[in-house]
Amino acid sequence: MMNAPAHAVHAKTADAPVPHAHAPLIAWTPELSVGIEEIDSQHKTLVDLLNQLHVAIVERHGARDAAEILERLVDYTRIHFAVEEALMRMLDYPDYEAHKAEHEELVEQVYQLRHKVMVEGKPITGELLFFLKRWLTEHILASDQKYAPHLLSRGVRAQYAKPSWLQRLWARSSH
Ligand SMILES: [Fe+2]
Repeated sequence: MMNAPAHAVHAKTADAPVPHAHAPLIAWTPELSVGIEEIDSQHKTLVDLLNQLHVAIVERHGARDAAEILERLVDYTRIHFAVEEALMRMLDYPDYEAHKAEHEELVEQVYQLRHKVMVEGKPITGELLFFLKRWLTEHILASDQKYAPHLLSRGVRAQYAKPSWLQRLWARSSH
């Protein structure tokens, strides 16, 4: 059941007074970019998974579809955080511990959410989608943006000239 009105889960709609059901939950904007291509592309994948979840709910694709997307979100989040943490550690980011603690809290939140939906059978409501939207965007805007200048100054791009860690981790996790 959709408890919240559709507009509650949409991105900014200032130029679109009547929100369309297919407007994405999160629109990628330049403010979300940390200026590190591979990290941005991982963040875009997370944005895409949340948008897919939104579509599955709005179009009532059924609980199974939504659960599968949620499962992918949990898996991809863990891999993405592992990549960020590895980079921060390798490049001596001074706020590493605090950032890692924040990741742990975010993972815990998404585990709890998965439990509610998949074990307790709770519906994914507009409110919950809005929670996920903030869960991701606030972390990128407030915390990931802080590590970007440090990682860039330590040559993060050269790290990524090597074969993609994410692709290897992701391929391994899906077997
Ligand atoms: Fe992060």
